[in-house]
Amino acid sequence: MQVKIVIGTVAFMLTMVILGFAALVEPARLEHFSAASVARQIETGAEIYKNNCASCHGVEAKAQQCFSPSGEQIACQGLPLQHQPLVCGDKPERLDQMGWVGTKQDFVYRTVAAGRGRIMPTWSVDFGGPLRNDQVENVSLYILNFEGEEFCSAPPLPNYEWPETYSDFNDAWAAGDAARGEELYNINYGCAGCHGDSVDSDASWDGTGPWLGAIVDNAPLRNPDVSVEEYIYESILMPNAYIVTGYSEGLMPQDFPNRMGLDPDVTPQDLQDIITYLTNQ
Ligand code: HEC
Ligand code: HEC
Repeated sequence: MQVKIVIGTVAFMLTMVILGFAALVEPARLEHFSAASVARQIETGAEIYKNNCASCHGVEAKAQQCFSPSGEQIACQGLPLQHQPLVCGDKPERLDQMGWVGTKQDFVYRTVAAGRGRIMPTWSVDFGGPLRNDQVENVSLYILNFEGEEFCSAPPLPNYEWPETYSDFNDAWAAGDAARGEELYNINYGCAGCHGDSVDSDASWDGTGPWLGAIVDNAPLRNPDVSVEEYIYESILMPNAYIVTGYSEGLMPQDFPNRMGLDPDVTPQDLQDIITYLTNQ
């Protein structure tokens, strides 16, 4: 009888020790398990990104290098997502700019799920989109995962400081290359989508913006006080300084100074090439 009690007590104590040990290691095990499952979600998210988002946001989510489904390079219409002001810190700058009071996780998830504006599509089935909610979550995690110590502690790229006038700009940069300018105009910056290309004509063009094939003749009619180059320079860097009659403010994108100033030693040449193209058609 006594032996039984002893065995019972020992067994009870052993059970408690084992349970206690299991309770101790459980959080670590769970953490390990959930880190692995988040990693899997991010991997799935990367695939969803490549198939659905890269055509507008770029292969590296930097709003550079966008390709159509058939593999041709096209203008990037989306914003950079591998972007410090969107993913770094608890309250990234973008949230403030957009008047968002919630978390950045909700901001990204919600924007992807419901879409925004005229171009960013709706993705979640809840809003009539093509993706399930777990897929929206996975691709959101993929974007949020750009937050990394190395990425977020790198000093933000200083944007190019555009000289006030085209002549000062022109002095600082090499002569323009019209052929490269045409490519930038038609493809990389998507100007032709709104302004038509060399095949269109003033009379036939019925797009969002005026046809630019005759800009050399039109510029002096808009502002006779400046050169054609100066007029184009201002139209792109300060789109609201002059609004062409019959068009409204805010249609011409406002972010070209940023996009063309992204790499201060290199990308401003794009504007020089585009101006050269437009004045030598
Ligand atoms: C047809 C082009 C297009 C596609 C495809 C697209 N986006 Fe967008 N996206 C945009 C545009 C344009 C904006 C900016 C919308 C605005 O502010 O009006 C945007 C904004 C965003 C933003 C908010 C960025 C910020 O700084 O506010 C996120 C996040 C985003 N997109 C994620 C995605 C994801 C994820 C996918 C794929 C599932 C995707 N987008 C597919 C065009 C696109
Ligand atoms: C989303 C459409 C859109 C895109 C893309 C666009 N523009 Fe415009 N642009 C407009 C509209 C609309 C106007 C007329 C309203 C105004 O004056 O702002 C305009 C005006 C201009 C003018 C003045 C035209 C004139 O006849 O006086 C120039 C020059 C110009 N854009 C150049 C460009 C270049 C170069 C690009 C590409 C780097 C570009 N635009 C991209 C819509 C667009």
